[in-house]
Amino acid sequence: MPSTAARTRLRLAGALAAVLVASGVATGPAAQAHEGPAHGKPRTTLADLAQRHGRYFGSATDNPELTDTAYTKILGEEFDMITPGNGMKWYATEPQQGVFDWTAGDEIVDLARDHHQKVRAHTLVWHSQLPGWLTGKEWTADELRAVLKNHIQTEVRHYRGKVYAWDVVNEAFNEDGTYRETVFYKTLGPGYIADALRWAHQADPKAKLYLNDYNIEAVGPKSDAYYALAKELKARRVPLDGIGLQAHLALQYGYPTTLEDNLRRFSRLGLDTALTEVDVRMLLPATDEKLAQQADWYRDMTEACLEVRRCVGITVWDYTDKYSWIPAFFPGQGAALPWDEQLAPKPAYQAIREALS
Ligand code: XIL
Repeated sequence: MPSTAARTRLRLAGALAAVLVASGVATGPAAQAHEGPAHGKPRTTLADLAQRHGRYFGSATDNPELTDTAYTKILGEEFDMITPGNGMKWYATEPQQGVFDWTAGDEIVDLARDHHQKVRAHTLVWHSQLPGWLTGKEWTADELRAVLKNHIQTEVRHYRGKVYAWDVVNEAFNEDGTYRETVFYKTLGPGYIADALRWAHQADPKAKLYLNDYNIEAVGPKSDAYYALAKELKARRVPLDGIGLQAHLALQYGYPTTLEDNLRRFSRLGLDTALTEVDVRMLLPATDEKLAQQADWYRDMTEACLEVRRCVGITVWDYTDKYSWIPAFFPGQGAALPWDEQLAPKPAYQAIREALS
């Protein structure tokens, strides 16, 4: 983490570069950056800005959107990390027991490779979006353990060397910090989490392995449960590299003001952290006031991550309101992302840039 003085110097250097660029003088990174769409002005991307801090800036994407060329152009330019929104989930990758389908995941990995982007892979073990063959049957512990191990190892092996990180287990806890009663927990007990991490590590020793969840941005019962589990897993030398904070925020519920402290306590355990599925939804209609508040939240989240050395990067859960999952899942809510439905940047986009500059 740079000192306050160093950060001030960085900020001044950024401001100076901006002045030089505005006056047509070529400077280092800005001079190499892409041409802006509007006036051919050189401009840096979110990825460029994040990289100056040793961070990445990513977006989720999903297969049906990839035919939208205006969309994929921005996706390919602004970001240096990609997460498949659905393509690597269990229902997609093992639709029949023992029959694997990599079509959707591969399409996104290939697109990311073409744009020199890394991939945060999502997700191996989750109670949601499971195939019918798995949910429609009673399993003994031995059977389910074998099914889980085969799923994890076959998928991780397939993407070995092609992904930066895996969300190994997604959403394992309830709001009160008790274990979520998923088929895996009920059949195998809490040890399924350590097993999943060990199996994934065997299949790709270089991938960073994460536990990922929502509503763990602030210090509270649910993030405390992750803190306790992470501490225990580290003590037992279970291969865990990081905690992913989804950060699906909503203006009507307030900002998680303890985010930075929370990130820091996981860092102190020797873990990476990442904001993995960021969006900031609001009750529709969006107003200028709400969009300004949303921008503040994006700025604050970005600054919190930059303040904590082991917060490695930020991923938005797609970048444009055109393809956000929010309106379908939270009726009456939306406008959650930094670009609007016409792919135009919103105040939140500027706020993220300012936080990174
Ligand atoms: C969402 C996808 O964006 C939707 O397209 C899909 O219909 C449902 O899942 N937490 C997660 C993500 O970990 O996998 C979810 O993604 C959003 C909430």
